[in-house]
Amino acid sequence: MQDHDIDNAIASGKTYGDLEVQHAVFSRLRREDPVHWTEPEGFRPFWTVTKNADILEVERQSDLFINSPRSKLWSIEFEQSVAKLMAGSPHLVRGLPQMDGAEHRSYRKLTQAWFQPRQVKLLEPRLQALAKRTVDEMEALGDEFDFYNDVAVWFPLRVILLILGQPESDAERLLRITMAYFGGSDPEMQKGSDMLKATRDYIEYFDGVSEDRRRNPTDDVASIIANSLIDGQPIGHHEASSYYIALASAGHDSTAATAAGGLLAMIQNPDQWRKLKANPELLPLAIDEMVRWVSPVKHFFRTATQDYDLRGKSIKAGEALLMSYPSGNRDEDVFDEPFAFRVDRTPNKHVGFGFGAHGCLGVYLAKMELQYLFRELLARVDSFELVGDPAWVETSFVGGLKRLPVRVRMHAMA
Ligand code: HEM
Repeated sequence: MQDHDIDNAIASGKTYGDLEVQHAVFSRLRREDPVHWTEPEGFRPFWTVTKNADILEVERQSDLFINSPRSKLWSIEFEQSVAKLMAGSPHLVRGLPQMDGAEHRSYRKLTQAWFQPRQVKLLEPRLQALAKRTVDEMEALGDEFDFYNDVAVWFPLRVILLILGQPESDAERLLRITMAYFGGSDPEMQKGSDMLKATRDYIEYFDGVSEDRRRNPTDDVASIIANSLIDGQPIGHHEASSYYIALASAGHDSTAATAAGGLLAMIQNPDQWRKLKANPELLPLAIDEMVRWVSPVKHFFRTATQDYDLRGKSIKAGEALLMSYPSGNRDEDVFDEPFAFRVDRTPNKHVGFGFGAHGCLGVYLAKMELQYLFRELLARVDSFELVGDPAWVETSFVGGLKRLPVRVRMHAMA
């Protein structure tokens, strides 16, 4: 592959729709040019950072490497339409991933306590009941179904509705918006330009939520956001909508993709499924391995605020760096047999949740959700097998499987 081909491959959604291609591109970069100057056609250039240690080095220094100038990979054409629409701002929304420094800290602090283990533990009975109902509904589908579309997408969506205090009847509407938001360049999903519409749809939905929670505050995350004060002033309309969007979008597809991709890994490695069934106490390790394996978030950007030397490359102030999480999670220098899926992998220093000041806010919630779902599946399902070809979303941002046709064999009821 020529350099310009590899540059185009890094930016193309298609690469991530074919795992073999994705891993071939990033394995080569880790070997030959781990901090790679990348100039894809139709995109502003950037550095691609592929080694686990380098991703940590960058993300650990959130004052030297900031988020606000460029948070994710968009074509120049799309960036221009966003700037036009948003009066020069490079972002459609202004949520946590687009903020830095003291401002980011004060916004993150608003809901941080809510996502701490102690608080999430209070949700456990409801998460457990949701997981049980999800598997009841799966069982009612019969022997064959699409695990991603019929099962995996619904569970985290219901959890989002739960933490935002919204009725489950909103699930279909929210799912449609989220699919359009993350569809990326996949021809089967929404086109990239529909992201504008999806953002408008999100805002319209959350405006109603915000208004309601101002009038009738309860104890959910939506009430905290709607009624919060920033520097003594009520949170701005755009910032409140952006906050909800960050939670709803970040919390959904990443978790659904991990559940489906984790299950596929165990269908392809039946010894790992059996090991986990026999030793459910391994679940916390297994969930981390699923996140490492799937790496549903493909990248986030940082921008250097000053010149910096990274693995011998001179990064200039103002240049952007793409953190490739799937690559960091297959790094041969960190993981023993990185291409082996092991439910008992430990240590597992993956970067699937990012790191540092912007590291995933919902990490503990995501792990608990996935544990409850798999606990229920392991207890009630004897085995899964594939009955068709799985397919992956063509996106360079967030996603995983878009189809996972399976046949299930449930345990006979005692
Ligand atoms: C397996 C599921 C999940 C994965 C793999 C995941 C991964 C990530 C990653 C890689 C980032 C960027 C980190 C960085 O820039 O260093 C992130 C940020 C974020 N995630 Fe998650 N996430 C998951 C689930 C969730 C859930 C359930 C929620 C909440 C409902 C959530 C909320 C957020 C928020 C708000 C941010 C932005 C944080 C900031 O910029 O300060 N995520 N996540």
